[in-house]
Amino acid sequence: MTVMSQRVAGFGTTVFVEINSLARQHNAVNLGQGAPDFDGPPEVLASAVEAVNSGLNQYAPGVGMPVVREAIVKHAERFYGQKIDPETEVLVTTGATEGVFAAILGLTDPGDEVIVFEPVYDTYVPNLIMAGVTPRYVPLRGEGWTFDPDELAKTFSPRTRAIMINTPHNPTGKVFSRDELRAIAELCQRHNVIAITDEVYEHILYDDAIHTRLATLPGMGERTLTISSLGKTFTVTGWKIGWAIGPAALVNAVNQAHQFITFAVASPLQAAAATALSLPFSFFENLQASYQAKRDRMIDVLTKVGFHVFKPAGSYFVMVDWRGVVPKQVQDDMQFAEWLIREVGVACIPASPFYQDSDKHLGKHFARFAVCKKDQTLAAAAHRISRLG
Ligand SMILES: Cc1ncc(COP(=O)(O)O)c(C=O)c1O
Repeated sequence: MTVMSQRVAGFGTTVFVEINSLARQHNAVNLGQGAPDFDGPPEVLASAVEAVNSGLNQYAPGVGMPVVREAIVKHAERFYGQKIDPETEVLVTTGATEGVFAAILGLTDPGDEVIVFEPVYDTYVPNLIMAGVTPRYVPLRGEGWTFDPDELAKTFSPRTRAIMINTPHNPTGKVFSRDELRAIAELCQRHNVIAITDEVYEHILYDDAIHTRLATLPGMGERTLTISSLGKTFTVTGWKIGWAIGPAALVNAVNQAHQFITFAVASPLQAAAATALSLPFSFFENLQASYQAKRDRMIDVLTKVGFHVFKPAGSYFVMVDWRGVVPKQVQDDMQFAEWLIREVGVACIPASPFYQDSDKHLGKHFARFAVCKKDQTLAAAAHRISRLG
């Protein structure tokens, strides 16, 4: 008996499950999945505990608790100067993941096309497929992971409904520049297309990188849905508290789907989200300084043993080209990841799963290391990797 629907049959197992299982078997230091091995700010954790103990344990309103919608609005004003109506222009979702899926279901129709940049974060394409939408890919290439503006322009068609932009970008660490976003904005307006942005790494930026919110560019406020979440910024990836903000018509469309996917999001964690989003500037500065040190340490050790490092401008990740380091029998990124786990005792994520089948070769020589780990974990990984030198 065939039990699996055709809709999901092609999805297979994610590379994260495979790598985590192999890493466990070999007792490897796991720099694979982008989940921190340390906790978020104590006052945020305490706020969740207090909310549970004070009886905030029943359904929240479907669009989110007023206190967290207010906090999301204030955060957007504080960091990006946006003016958002907490009543109609904010929706709280079960992480950015649900926000993205609800956005696709609420804003596209079967047969539409949606443009994504490749390498592409792993949930987008399965989400599009489940919605009956055709993904159209624009590759990011070279040292700065740039796109060819002509190639992007040619990818727009009369069927294009939306474009998805993830900045800072997973897995490359690219932060889309203002000029790149302007080029995207111009095409969106010319073709009357919606932009869906995923900005979950908005506060994890390196050196002098600046995160530009596409919604704040001229003409984009009315056609951009901005999605973000609590997980990365506040080191609570397991909480799955996210939000979508944008013009009321877009947010309402996303809510049409959200109300029948999860309906409402964990109440006590929403209360704690309000505490988190209201933390002072110093919290965000310290977060960046701490990640800067982690990134620099990993870049240093990886470069010293001969990896070509693509210096990330943001996100949890460092992408490398591994060809300078491995023995001849290692031919592709999957073999590289296995070899690194078995022989070196460190786990990373191969890059080709972030590419569509016909473009896998573009990711074949790359692998992604996560730096969102305790200094102790990074030291253990660094010690093992440095033996390669
Ligand atoms: C680009 C990107 N979007 C979304 C998510 C998931 O966000 P959330 O945990 O809020 O659903 C991740 C997590 O790794 C991510 O890297």
